[in-house]
Amino acid sequence: MSSAFDDETRIGRDGRLHVRAAAKVNLGLRVVGRRDDGYHLLESLFVPIDWWDDLAIGWRPGRGRHVSLRVERSEVDAVGSSQSIPSGSDNLVHRAATRFLAAAERDGAVDLELTKRLPAGAGLGGGSSDAGAVLRGLAHRLPGAVPAARLAGIALELGADVPFFLAPRPCWVGGIGERLAPLAAMPELHLVLANPGVALPTPEVFRAFDASGSTIAAEAQGEVRSALAAWLRAQARGPAAAADPLARLLRNDLEPAARELVPGIGHLLARLRALGARACSLSGSGATVFGVFSGAEDARTAAAKLDAEGPGWVRVARTQAV
Ligand code: C5P
Repeated sequence: MSSAFDDETRIGRDGRLHVRAAAKVNLGLRVVGRRDDGYHLLESLFVPIDWWDDLAIGWRPGRGRHVSLRVERSEVDAVGSSQSIPSGSDNLVHRAATRFLAAAERDGAVDLELTKRLPAGAGLGGGSSDAGAVLRGLAHRLPGAVPAARLAGIALELGADVPFFLAPRPCWVGGIGERLAPLAAMPELHLVLANPGVALPTPEVFRAFDASGSTIAAEAQGEVRSALAAWLRAQARGPAAAADPLARLLRNDLEPAARELVPGIGHLLARLRALGARACSLSGSGATVFGVFSGAEDARTAAAKLDAEGPGWVRVARTQAV
């Protein structure tokens, strides 16, 4: 049966490579250390969801290196509509293509067309996913041009979340985002995503986390993996037994800082709980929150009720299973 997560890279009739750039949610996030350069060491589960940007990549060998980018907006939402996505060389997608060509030492023109659906500054990894999709697409187009380790290095230079998007699938993530271990088992989850309509820049949330004097839970190292194992075991005993382990897994250490910056986050989490979510969390650094529901129908019903209350935006989503 085909699903939203089937291999999404294909050559179109227009000769361009078409790549899907899916969003992710974080199923739990623990801050377990801080590096000298200010980056935070994390542990998290990153899971792709069935909501994505579309990217078309044209490639023509030739003299010199040229990258062009056109950004189309396919769906206007409350978060995205107030923001302009840069289409120049400061867009992460543009930088990804430029770095790839330099590393490959190939001359030619890369024409990128990005159809944007995912909101920026939402904790869903939209921009990082677009950049990962460019690297993945060009690596597919020019096989062997850039060794895998170099590609991973370029991804990390572009952003801490980008390495995950080189091969998006449910993963345990460590370091600042460069340590990745694909999960052996992960059930599909039915989510309601909600965002108070505020774009929240990641550095601001980490700054607020540091300023709040939050202690870094070095002893939490390994907790995400053990919480995942406990939840998977509890699932076999039914949804009631699994509720507490799921809530433990979904703990996000950035939530207090994000709530402080955007009080609407706390309200949305409370509403998701009241509407029957089994557990709720913040995705990444926010401001998107999500609730886990027992099935697609429950999620749709809750989403419709929450949407009627008029927050920024509400959406149902499914996570990728393994
Ligand atoms: O790497 P990226 O550009 O996505 O990170 C944006 C900012 O978020 C960093 O400059 C840093 O302030 C913060 N960050 C962090 N620890 C991480 C990821 C991001 O402190 N693991």
